[in-house]
Amino acid sequence: MAKDKTLYTCSDCGGSTPRWLGRCPHCGAWNTLLETTAAPAAAKHRMSALRQGLASDGALMRLGDIKAADVQRTPTGLPELDRVLGGGIVAGAVVLIGGDPGIGKSTLLLQALDALQRAGLPTLYVSGEESGAQVALRARRLGLADSQVPVLAEIQLERIVATLERERPAVAVIDSIQTVYTEQLSSAPGSVAQVRECAAHLTRLAKAGGADGHAGTTLVLVGHVTKEGALAGPRVLEHMVDTVLYFEGDTHSSFRLVRAIKNRFGAVNEMGVFAMTERGLKGVNNPSALFLSQHPQPVPGSCVLVTLEGTRPLLVEIQALVDGGGVAPRRLTVGLERDRLAMLLAVLHRHAGVACADQDVFVNAVGGVRIAEPAADLAVLLAIQSSLRARPLPPRFVAFGEVGLAGEVRPAPRGLERLREAAKLGFRVALVPAANLPRKPDAPTRELLDALEVHPVGRIEEALHIVRAW
Ligand code: TYD
Ligand code: MG
Repeated sequence: MAKDKTLYTCSDCGGSTPRWLGRCPHCGAWNTLLETTAAPAAAKHRMSALRQGLASDGALMRLGDIKAADVQRTPTGLPELDRVLGGGIVAGAVVLIGGDPGIGKSTLLLQALDALQRAGLPTLYVSGEESGAQVALRARRLGLADSQVPVLAEIQLERIVATLERERPAVAVIDSIQTVYTEQLSSAPGSVAQVRECAAHLTRLAKAGGADGHAGTTLVLVGHVTKEGALAGPRVLEHMVDTVLYFEGDTHSSFRLVRAIKNRFGAVNEMGVFAMTERGLKGVNNPSALFLSQHPQPVPGSCVLVTLEGTRPLLVEIQALVDGGGVAPRRLTVGLERDRLAMLLAVLHRHAGVACADQDVFVNAVGGVRIAEPAADLAVLLAIQSSLRARPLPPRFVAFGEVGLAGEVRPAPRGLERLREAAKLGFRVALVPAANLPRKPDAPTRELLDALEVHPVGRIEEALHIVRAW
């Protein structure tokens, strides 16, 4: 195949140069030039010729007149997956699923494809990492020995595209996008240029339905996550696709979370919860108590947080360990932001006089769950304080609330809902932002507040004052 001319395009400003340079000559950014194919020279002329003919045809429509037929969604047969997708798959949509190796991406997608195929939708599973026999072996493990899902073990883009065009599946999975390569580019499979080019090509193909009555293919791209936690191909894929889902969870525990971080067809931050069993991933309908470890007695350094993931409150144990450090004390977090911890320690020092400057501080969210919401602040601070004093918080205790730099405790969204979930799971004492409690509670709220011993706080000093009295 004749090679197209190669260009180097800056991932920041979009400028291009014919040669690779360490620094973009257009915007001055370092290390941002990526190999891409240049559009054939003739294209420009064709474009202007086309333009003349098209200008009058593309009739404009008023936004209000366009019939936004509610997007047609097809349930995947896995309710927890449908929840993150916003109700099911949408024809022509492109979904990117990222996650660590071995977390269950291939398992989940094979289960979903099989269910869709059984429901009568034509599907296609393109495996670039495993041979057909390996995929079949997994299907056996999943109890899908008689599965009718067509499998293509292929990594060359052109052949994958040809198969997609011939088969016209309603749903296709590319497992994984990092293994796919095109001959158009000389860079290695898995390189940013290859991943971007292949994904762009496949995306165009998925959307190119309509002409012959074909609604378009729902394309699911599997992406591996690098050690730094980013999808390989520096976020280039994230803005290209309609939906980005991330797998989270500790590969050593059996629970897996699938979270939507971008969704053009549904709510973001919605979350699906699965348990990895010997027969694949099973949805967990009632996950709120999954991330609590079972201590027979309350232990120092542990505080339960009520976090709100999408539409569901979730109780997560936050653990802190404060221990004598060396000259350069460490601040480490698992599942929480490290910068946020540094900030909270500064607030604790400045506004409550609690110093950890010479101590190592470790903070962990139990179960491999990642918590991004600031409402975790109060629980983190209470866990740290509890570890410092070597005194446990009271039994069946929960907390939530954002802490500001001025030491104020800010309300968390939907605080009463969080309290309700905690009460339902048998928690009895809560420390919450004062602004989360209504001034004039209605009857059900009063009942809830009676069932729990709720301590409203407006500042972090107040919170620590209450805790020290226990
Ligand atoms: P896999 O889907 O291959 O992960 P990924 O595609 O994200 O790399 O998941 C592999 C892991 O799941 C592997 O460690 C074995 C485990 N597993 C089960 O526990 N039960 C099962 O039924 C299957 C198929 C896999
Ligand atoms: Mg896999």
